[in-house]
Amino acid sequence: MNIPSFAIEEYFAKYEFTTPYLLCASDCESLTVGELLALAGRSLDDLGHLHLGYTESQGHPRLRQAIADRYPGVSPDQVVVLNAPEEGIYVTMRTLLEPGDEVVVMAPAYASLLQVAEHICGRDQTRLWPIQPTEQGWRVNLAHLENLVTPQTKMIIVNFPHNPTGCLPTYDELEAIVAIAEKQGCWLFWDEMYRGLELDGRETLPSAAAFYDRCLVLGGLSKVHGLPGLRSGWVIIQDEAVRGRFINWKHYTSICAAAPSEFLALVALSVQEQLISRSRRIIQENLLEAEPFFARWPELFTWRRPQAGSVALLGVNVPSATQFCQELIEQAGVLLLPGPHLGYDDHHVRLGLGRRNFATNLSHLETYLRENQ
Ligand SMILES: Cc1ncc(COP(=O)(O)O)c(C=O)c1O
Repeated sequence: MNIPSFAIEEYFAKYEFTTPYLLCASDCESLTVGELLALAGRSLDDLGHLHLGYTESQGHPRLRQAIADRYPGVSPDQVVVLNAPEEGIYVTMRTLLEPGDEVVVMAPAYASLLQVAEHICGRDQTRLWPIQPTEQGWRVNLAHLENLVTPQTKMIIVNFPHNPTGCLPTYDELEAIVAIAEKQGCWLFWDEMYRGLELDGRETLPSAAAFYDRCLVLGGLSKVHGLPGLRSGWVIIQDEAVRGRFINWKHYTSICAAAPSEFLALVALSVQEQLISRSRRIIQENLLEAEPFFARWPELFTWRRPQAGSVALLGVNVPSATQFCQELIEQAGVLLLPGPHLGYDDHHVRLGLGRRNFATNLSHLETYLRENQ
């Protein structure tokens, strides 16, 4: 059976490498291999000595230990290393979902979180839990979630900090989401790809992994650490039988992670504090550029400051955000991501805040607006 097109990834495949002024990337500023090794006090020679054989299918034990160290109460044998965070979404759903199962997915959602679930379970079995725009930014509605989840619900799928709104639950809200899953005994899949990028001095929420033994948590180095080219990610799975089934599914996708990625992921985790503060600093600096920009264009944009993460979802007061983005690409070389590619409406666009060239690229957008609005 065919699956709908992955609109975001198709859009990036088409425009990311041909449009000069990227303003919608979700990853933070990257590094070269040499810069990463130097930061960790390692040499290129260390990489040169790496043996390029198959790796262990669950992941290198030292890497699993370094990952487990990030999650209090999690042991290395509960970590499964992936060949890409994306693989974790596909394999988790293949492992736990069957046709006809009922699932609840937050909306909007990174497309695979919704579309793989829909593909397996059926569209009519998938209920959407919308994140809501409020005066205080994007917020969760727990009463609504509670109404959507029933004794038939097999899995709740969430992503916090949230791509694309930047919504971050409070500690009490996190507990409440877990309690809703626990009450029905359903699986909770928590995509924590942006965990660590809390903004404006907010504390990093504890990982949901520690709260509930039926919670599977996705993490990785693409966004927060600025290393998407490593394709390094992991899933924490407490249930031993489910972990075994997950690894079996992974044998059908990639078998094991790439040896250079595992090596460099271990190096990256040894300097993760530096990498994370670097990304946060870049985002905070970019927010200082973004806010006055949106204050200059109040009629055109509705700005809701993200609470965490590297992206924001902007309202745009135009007849079609898709058309607006197309004109920007063609006439200004600026790339924004239109709402419909995120499963959202055609009056919003995604803004990426994690890149060093943000201010320059924003100035290209502003020049275009001055000439055309
Ligand atoms: C919420 C979320 N989960 C998972 C992924 C997949 O990460 P990767 O592209 O590193 O596989 C992304 C990528 O944009 C994402 O935004």
